[in-house]
Amino acid sequence: MSPSRVAAFVAALPKVELHLHLIGSASLDTALALARRHPDGGVPTEREALRQYYAFTDFPHFLRVYERVNRLVTTAADVVTLLDGLAAELAARTVRYAEVQVTPVRNRMAGIGYAALAGALTEGRALARERHGVELGWVFDADALLGPDGAEETVDFAVGHRPEGTVGIGLGGPETGIHRADFAPAFRRARAAGLHSLPHAGETVGPDEVWAAVNELCAERVGHGIGAARDPRLLEHLAEHRIPLEVSPTSNLRTGAVRAIEEHPLPVLHAAGVPVTLATDDPGMFHTDLNAEYQLCHEVFGMTVPELAEIARTGARAAFCEPDLRDRILAEIDQVEGAAATNAG
Ligand code: ADE
Ligand code: ZN
Repeated sequence: MSPSRVAAFVAALPKVELHLHLIGSASLDTALALARRHPDGGVPTEREALRQYYAFTDFPHFLRVYERVNRLVTTAADVVTLLDGLAAELAARTVRYAEVQVTPVRNRMAGIGYAALAGALTEGRALARERHGVELGWVFDADALLGPDGAEETVDFAVGHRPEGTVGIGLGGPETGIHRADFAPAFRRARAAGLHSLPHAGETVGPDEVWAAVNELCAERVGHGIGAARDPRLLEHLAEHRIPLEVSPTSNLRTGAVRAIEEHPLPVLHAAGVPVTLATDDPGMFHTDLNAEYQLCHEVFGMTVPELAEIARTGARAAFCEPDLRDRILAEIDQVEGAAATNAG
């Protein structure tokens, strides 16, 4: 199939996005507006300078920039604005459902009270549905830098406020020198309250932290998880237990988690039978969108249209959305794939 036909197929393909961060989803224009409102925030207030600011030298540098941008989001109205922009972007990429990572403790540190945050999420979710036709779910992620106490506070928010659409508990931030296992008590409490376990692991480190996410945090999906590619036994485990990895190739390239896109282990994970879903992570900061990630899989890894459709199905099956919505998305994927096959033949 010609590249333009694949692009048209990807654009029409109904998709879910299971790993993207609220703050990192801010478009360049939205981030600029925030930076201009807080000119002392250390974030460039000119477009080209902001673009340059998003050229990351390594993963710790990315996390420092992310934190600075996080501090610009200071009101509930900002959160609603971010969600409105995000939902418009998702709708434009034929994304029907997204699970958004929100870091309530960082929002609280930036000045947004918990009740106000919960209200903004509820308002933004309704707006996403009514204005853009996109359904949103929430993953409340703890920042590993804030330690186990930060994770406990995250669970307090998720369980205490539990805004509609709450899906699970996550764990982001650095992995070097900070171990997933240290967060087991907070995750245990979250799971006991009915929340799903959705930590990042193996983004910048090897398989040990993915094992810890699976064994200690009872991960039901793993954010990134690309370090698993170095351990055949772990690949077998993920494949056998159907634990999906939320893979974000462009993110991994931009943060330096992989040196070159051709070296990205996605094909290894896929070939091992591990359920793989595609995600953007922080699309505003990595200059990407979900269609671009699918397109990349075709162009760099040679994935065919049926393989791309299967990745979209894996996402729908791994999503913690209403079963009706999942069934509708799966039926739509069949329809779009069928139409592409008819046109090609
Ligand atoms: N927070 C936002 N993006 C992240 C990433 N890619 N890894 C860990 N924490 C994050
Ligand atoms: Zn992430």
